[in-house]
Amino acid sequence: MHARRCNRIGWYVAFVAFVAVPWTAARAEAPRFGRDPAIEKRIDDLIGRMTLEEKLGQLTQQWGAETQDVNPVVTRTKRDDMLGLIRAGKVGSLLGTHGAEYTNALQKAAFEESKYKIPLILGNDVIHGYRTIFPIPLGGAATWDPKLVEQAAHVAAVESAATGTHWTFAPMVDVCRDPRWGRVAEGAGEDPLLGSEMAAAAVRGFQGDDLTAPDSVVACAKHYVAYGAPEGGRDYNTVDISLQTLHDVYLPPFRAAVDAGVGTLMSAFNEINGVPASGCRYTLTTVLRDQWHFDGFVVSDWGSVIEMVAHGYASDPADAAAKAITAGVDMDMSSFSYRDHLPRAVADGRVPESVVDEALRRVLRVKFAIGLFDDPYTDPSLEKKVILTPEHRQVAREVARSSFVLLRNEGDLLPIGEDVKSIAVIGPLADSQKDPLGTWAGVGKAEDVVTVLDGIKQRAGAGVTVRHARGCDVRGDDTSGIAEAVEAAEQSDLVVLVIGESDDMSGEGHSRASIELPGVQRQLAQKLHATGKPVAVVLLNGRPMALPWLAENIPAILVAWHPGVECGNAIADVLFGDFNPCGKLPITFPRATGQIPIYTAHKNTGRPPRDDRYTSKYIDLPWTPQYPFGYGLSYTQFTYRNLSIKAQELKADGTLEVAVDVANAGKRDGAEIVQLYVRDLVGSSTRPVRQLVGFQKVQIPAGQDRRVKFSVPVRSLGFHNWDMQYVVEPGDFQFFIADLEGTFRVVE
Ligand code: NOJ
Repeated sequence: MHARRCNRIGWYVAFVAFVAVPWTAARAEAPRFGRDPAIEKRIDDLIGRMTLEEKLGQLTQQWGAETQDVNPVVTRTKRDDMLGLIRAGKVGSLLGTHGAEYTNALQKAAFEESKYKIPLILGNDVIHGYRTIFPIPLGGAATWDPKLVEQAAHVAAVESAATGTHWTFAPMVDVCRDPRWGRVAEGAGEDPLLGSEMAAAAVRGFQGDDLTAPDSVVACAKHYVAYGAPEGGRDYNTVDISLQTLHDVYLPPFRAAVDAGVGTLMSAFNEINGVPASGCRYTLTTVLRDQWHFDGFVVSDWGSVIEMVAHGYASDPADAAAKAITAGVDMDMSSFSYRDHLPRAVADGRVPESVVDEALRRVLRVKFAIGLFDDPYTDPSLEKKVILTPEHRQVAREVARSSFVLLRNEGDLLPIGEDVKSIAVIGPLADSQKDPLGTWAGVGKAEDVVTVLDGIKQRAGAGVTVRHARGCDVRGDDTSGIAEAVEAAEQSDLVVLVIGESDDMSGEGHSRASIELPGVQRQLAQKLHATGKPVAVVLLNGRPMALPWLAENIPAILVAWHPGVECGNAIADVLFGDFNPCGKLPITFPRATGQIPIYTAHKNTGRPPRDDRYTSKYIDLPWTPQYPFGYGLSYTQFTYRNLSIKAQELKADGTLEVAVDVANAGKRDGAEIVQLYVRDLVGSSTRPVRQLVGFQKVQIPAGQDRRVKFSVPVRSLGFHNWDMQYVVEPGDFQFFIADLEGTFRVVE
């Protein structure tokens, strides 16, 4: 096996050159932003007339909420002061503005009353829904269904655009392999391919085909880049990863977003190997502009420009602003560093004015492309028509129930059968309207949420007695409610225990040092289990959790994430078997926090774990995860056979074509996520033991089977070598679908 690599140095260079073409799908259309000569002329004309200060005003984004409802920590600028700033051309974009009446008033000040009549671009964090709140993005990824994610993003676009939003700071496409990090909730989990598919789907959903349409918002892929790899899982912390990992793991979802036509990117808070992401010319210009040909603009994250002073990368705000704009950050979010400090940096020659002009050109192109110069106003009658409609709720229910992952179902405890005449719905999250909204619900309202208790009551109907006891809180050590919960359990045929994390235990600034069940919830579960009644746990969670006791003792566990407004209905659909669960984990669930980082595409090491002391494992815990990436049960059983490959020798420009029969051997119709993994056995860099290279969701009626085929370009099986060249090296590979495997060889 090793011999295959030895004698190849001579042709290796030619081979590398051949495959160094980026492998992700080439953009089908022409660039969206720019290149229209008539618009370019208008932009040049505007820039030619503007002073430096006026240009910098356009590159300034600030908080613009009229009320403090949405973000109480941010000081409000009074409406009249805001209008004054806009008329004076001091601001080109706002975030946090909501409602047609308010946004139209702001827009009038810009478009009719300012000197150059440049409309504002108004941004918001529409992360997992606007008012119709969907599952957190990690839940969306658990559907492994890009179409659903696209639909959810489209609904969010419809609702937010109707209230005057042009631009959403989503999707967050940060790969995360450390679930202590609170923002794991906002992304698609641990895998670059799944993350890329979800990123592209969200961009398509937000932006649609026509950026000028009233149901389109510009998307923003964030946080560029590697924000998901903070040391210790602590938000905003230092990131130090190899350039290979940067290119092979953290960059691909951004590339997918760019290829899907994303209009903007957000530069991250973190440093990458010593250089803050908001001052990193390599990622912002060399990779993003020169290699990927991104033609939209880059906005900084909140204050991330000025924070380069605290990082120790800039001596003062002017230095920070100079470094950010020359690296490739076009707009400053909220630190005013461009407006206040770049005049000095330009005056003393640190920043050529042409750099400012180029940043402005990029911002204006997007404003033109989304039609703001034609009509920047929002039809006030739309708001009432499109917010939280029954149709939108239906999409939210579909996404939610498709996102649930059944981890355990001993003795087919679920779905709940006709024989169950009484159910005890217990737990601190059972009757919560707030927590199912999840980490970034924006203008979402708790009153819109159907609780698990209500969903179960409604579905169970009059013939079933539903009891409820809270048992304990999510946090804290108060066990006084457990006795009442035990009593309710003892009187019932079945216990549904709804536990996990509250909405404020994940998201920005909410990292956890331990991802075990908080508070006394495990104690509650133990007491209920001790009653001898069957217990089904529904977990509401913003991240993977370490649940060793539950995994060994509780017969049924359903991971429901934070599922949004249709929480209770979607959970009842699954518990009662109206919907067969089909979600799969988009991220590994460890046995204990101490196993982190633990992920499927890991390396083999020189001493893979074995029954031998001197191999890579722990003395106090198995090295394997509790539940791996890609895991999830169904109420039916799928069996796999007849794995085949079309050709076993493949050229680098060829296609890996494999097929497998998937049979639904059970009595219920169901959907299965069929996953294809490969392993490149020997490389000039070591390769993961399993790398996801394809997946498909297939619906299979009970008793039937489907032949599932994959066509994967061989050029997508490569990696970045030590010289940062993307290569697919010839040699032997294994491939895996479920428990079947085969081999193929890439040849010269
Ligand atoms: C900081 C967050 O990191 C980012 O994701 C968000 O879009 C901005 N704040 C604006 O709210």
